[in-house]
Amino acid sequence: MTTETNPGAGTLRTPRLLLRPWLPSDLEPFAALNADPQVMEHFPAVLSREESDAFATASNEAISRQGWGRWALEVIETGEFIGFTGLHRPTFEAPFMPATEIAWRLGRRSWGQGYATEAARAALGFAFDHLGLDEVVSFTATVNLRSSAVMRRLGMTHDPAGDFDHPALPPGHRLRRHVLYRLSATDWRERYGAQAAARHTGAGTDA
Ligand SMILES: CC(C)(COP(=O)(O)OP(=O)(O)OC[C@H]1O[C@@H](n2cnc3c(N)ncnc32)[C@H](O)[C@@H]1OP(=O)(O)O)[C@@H](O)C(=O)NCCC(=O)NCCS
Repeated sequence: MTTETNPGAGTLRTPRLLLRPWLPSDLEPFAALNADPQVMEHFPAVLSREESDAFATASNEAISRQGWGRWALEVIETGEFIGFTGLHRPTFEAPFMPATEIAWRLGRRSWGQGYATEAARAALGFAFDHLGLDEVVSFTATVNLRSSAVMRRLGMTHDPAGDFDHPALPPGHRLRRHVLYRLSATDWRERYGAQAAARHTGAGTDA
C-alpha cells in the first residue's frame, strides 16, 4: 500500500462497523473476495491480485486526499475486514454524470447480515450532512438483484429513465444494461432527518 493511513481521519462508525482508511493487512482478504466468482458474478471478471491492490490503493488515496471515499469495512467486535462501502465519483460517460455514487462489495461470508445497508446509511449521512451533496446515485447491472435490494432498503428510488448501457461493456454483454437509483438530500432528510440519521446509524465521524 503506497498511502500512509491515518487512523481516526476519514473514519465513520456505526453500531457494528468501522468505515475506515485501508490497511496493508486488508489487501490479502480483499484480493480473496475479488477472486471469488460468486462475489464477482455481476462484474465482467474476477480481479487479479494486482488489480485488487490497485483498487484498494486508489480508494485509500481518495480518502487521504479528500477525507472520504470507498472505505474499508471492519467489524468492530472481531476486527475482521469484510470489504468496502463508500462514495465515489465515476469518470465514465453517462447522461446522469457528473454524479457521486454509493457502492459496496463484501465477502460472501458477510452477506445476509445487514452490513452493506448499515455501512451505506453512514456513508449517505456523511454525503448529505457533511459534504452537503444534493443527490447520491447508485447503479448496478440489471441482474444484480442483491445490490438493487440494498438501494431500495436505503430509500433510493429507481429512475427507469436513467437506466443505461455501461460504456465499458460491449453490445450484447450480459451485464451491459444497468439500473440507476437516486436519493436526493430532501428525500434523505424526510426519511431520517439529520439528527435521526445519526441516531439511526449510530454514525459518527472523525473526518
Ligand atoms: C450487494 C451486496 C453488498 C449485498 O449484500 P447483502 O448482505 O445482501 O445486503 P445487506 O448487507 O444489506 O444485508 C441484507 C440482508 O441481511 C439480513 N439481515 C440479517 N441480520 C440483519 C441485521 N441485523 N440488520 C439488517 N439486516 C439483517 C436482511 O434480512 C437481508 O437478508 P436477505 O438478503 O435475505 O433479504 C453483496 O451481495 C455483495 O457484496 N455482492 C457482490 C458485490 C456487488 O455485486 N456489489 C454491487 C456492485 S454494483
